Amino acid sequence: MPTLRALHRTSAVLIAAFALLHLANHLVLLAGVPAHIAFMKAARVVYRQPWVEVPLLLCVAFQVGSGLWLVVRGWKHGRGAVARLQALSGAILAFFLLIHVGAVLSGRMLLDLDTNLYFAVAGFYVPPFQFFFWPYYFLAVLALFAHLGCAAWRHLSKAPPRSRRLALALPLLVGSVVSLLIVLSLAGKIQPVEVPAEYKAKFTLQQS
Ligand code: HEM
Repeated sequence: MPTLRALHRTSAVLIAAFALLHLANHLVLLAGVPAHIAFMKAARVVYRQPWVEVPLLLCVAFQVGSGLWLVVRGWKHGRGAVARLQALSGAILAFFLLIHVGAVLSGRMLLDLDTNLYFAVAGFYVPPFQFFFWPYYFLAVLALFAHLGCAAWRHLSKAPPRSRRLALALPLLVGSVVSLLIVLSLAGKIQPVEVPAEYKAKFTLQQS
């Protein structure tokens, strides 16, 4: 029977495939809001299909549960900096995915909003919520790259130390640059983003 760790790795493949497409979508924002929205419209044709979305969301739920279990069980036995980085980045991802996917699904089902770019970034434009969203998105994207780097480091246990170090350092470097670019562009520091009032309203107290 496959171990929990093996199932965790298998489910990570589908999530990582979606996450790479998803982050590519966010990087396209550097070319402007219309390019980002057009990319998402095309990508949704694939990931909004029930045969893709249902397994993806089930994998996310399993990944969060199994990841937290591995962290709790392995915390005391984890030896060395890489084991600790893997546990820490996994815990950040679990926390992020719970909030992120919960927010997207409730935005769609309860608030009846199109969960597009404006839904994701509105908090940057309604003080003081930017203090939450800067570290929230930056750490989530960096944690994803760090977690994958740690997995590659573990996988290459028989490789020369130099290759192992490279397998970890490269994702950390790329992840830092990608996270910074994405967060700067979400916050409108690279190209303009005009968030419609209906999206900002979810952060302001409703007035009767
Ligand atoms: C800066 C970072 C991110 C932003 C701004 C962002 C934004 C969004 C938006 C706007 C949606 C809704 C998409 C739609 O309605 O079609 C979404 C959905 C989702 N995101 Fe992210 N995301 C980010 C990072 C991530 C990361 C790192 C992961 C995974 C590790 C992730 C996983 C998901 C998942 C699983 C969904 C649900 C897909 C669905 O079924 O509709 N996101 N995100």
